[in-house]
Amino acid sequence: MDIDQIFNNNEKWVQQKIAENAFFFDELNKGQFPDYLYIGCSDSRVAAEEIMGLAPGELFVHRNIANMVVGIDLNGMSVIKYAIDHLKVKHVIVCGHYQCGGIKAAMISQDMGILNPWLRNIRDVYRLHKEELNAIISEDDRYDRLVELNVQEQCINLIKTAEVQRAYKERGLLVHGWVFNMKTGKLKDLKIDFGHVIKNIREIYRID
Ligand code: CO
Repeated sequence: MDIDQIFNNNEKWVQQKIAENAFFFDELNKGQFPDYLYIGCSDSRVAAEEIMGLAPGELFVHRNIANMVVGIDLNGMSVIKYAIDHLKVKHVIVCGHYQCGGIKAAMISQDMGILNPWLRNIRDVYRLHKEELNAIISEDDRYDRLVELNVQEQCINLIKTAEVQRAYKERGLLVHGWVFNMKTGKLKDLKIDFGHVIKNIREIYRID
């Protein structure tokens, strides 16, 4: 596709939005009040708002390779801080996806240059769940399972943060772990037991 086509598409989109609601852009201009923070993979096939059926203004988004929540990643941590303490989102979603290139790369033991420290966080997830993963014979199934376990661990990383622990106590903020299946288009809820996780990890990670 020619890059100029994007501006034609944009013009069509503007006209379509105005036709649906004459005040659409006036409303957008007033500010954002999203209920959800979405932390997902940068993968071009996972169109966050589109698969969730949400409109502009309804989803605060952070994306990186393999939907990671890394405690010393200033970018990600700033997004979490702003979304929870300032925008007061009600839900935080970590959304992984099957066929994730970042997860695949972490499963291969080789030097990936500047990607190494990032992938090492995923390799840590593998190490934590090595027994379960190594017991899975099919490589495809093991790959799928690591995608799920990675989402679970990133939810735990979220729950370690002061922002999440405080907002959970004060106003019932919830953390959700999902996986997008691009073969079917469906979202799978991993049903992370938030209350159980927070109880379990507070012995070590509590901040109040
Ligand atoms: Co991915």
